[in-house]
Amino acid sequence: MSTALIECRAVGKTYAGASTQALVDVNLDVAANEFVTLVGASGCGKSTLLRTLAGLESHDRGELRVNGAPIVGPGPDRAMVFQHYSLYPWLSVIDNIKFVRQLKVHTDGRSSADVEAASGRADALLHLMGLSAVAQAYPNQLSGGMQQRVAIARALMSRPPILLMDEPFGALDAQTREVMHDLIAHVHRQERSTIVFVTHDVEEALYLGHRVVLMAPRPGRIDTVYDVPLPHKRTQDMRLSAEFLQLKRQVLERIRETSGMKTDLDLLEKLSQQAN
Ligand SMILES: Nc1ncnc2c1ncn2[C@@H]1O[C@H](COP(=O)(O)OP(=O)(O)O)[C@@H](O)[C@H]1O
Ligand SMILES: [Mg+2]
Repeated sequence: MSTALIECRAVGKTYAGASTQALVDVNLDVAANEFVTLVGASGCGKSTLLRTLAGLESHDRGELRVNGAPIVGPGPDRAMVFQHYSLYPWLSVIDNIKFVRQLKVHTDGRSSADVEAASGRADALLHLMGLSAVAQAYPNQLSGGMQQRVAIARALMSRPPILLMDEPFGALDAQTREVMHDLIAHVHRQERSTIVFVTHDVEEALYLGHRVVLMAPRPGRIDTVYDVPLPHKRTQDMRLSAEFLQLKRQVLERIRETSGMKTDLDLLEKLSQQAN
């Protein structure tokens, strides 16, 4: 019996009409409460794997299971956060967070006690995400980082055990991103969620992940899985530790090797030698 919450067994996918396989023989287990990051060059299938886990995309080979049950579509056990947070501009922060829940209340004919519980949950999330002071503000009055906090709070509203995040901080500046890193790690501890987090930023992958899954392109596949040799509770100074920097160098080198970038760099080197 496997104890993994998420299981990928020999998963493969080719998009209709595509010449290369988006995913080949992907095998990955994610344990409950783990924080796994997927990193790799553009086009290596990170988003495809995540969308397949979300049930937004089908796979054509292998097996994908959550809690032992095959993934056949989106479900309340998995919430997704994208790079471009799509908040409702006409709703305040608090109403954006409650929105999905309110829809449910109306359609399922839930009681006012349910609505009250949802309000309590929304308030708790405002607090957790440091949004209490802007509860009544509208999205266009907030910075990108704050808007993304609202989007994360909204994703957490229905207590999904699994959070799937596709380059959620990709549009934020470096300082805001650092703050968001500590915030999402805090959320992970508080909510005891299981997180699969996609990024092309190696430092981000190493800082957040308990394990880092390095993917490679053409065809999209898992190349190497690294255990990050740091305590699960990270602190910013760890970014400068010897273990961190050594692993960062190792991962960057492997990305260069597997993505064809190394060949490009060698070619550049040769060209510049010829020019001299
Ligand atoms: N909707 C799609 N239709 C056809 N090909 C796609 C589609 N989405 C992604 N691909 C292709 O699948 C491969 C993996 O893409 P993707 O999962 O987006 O990679 P990543 O997120 O790592 O950049 C790429 O070759 C990409 O061009
Ligand atoms: Mg992507």
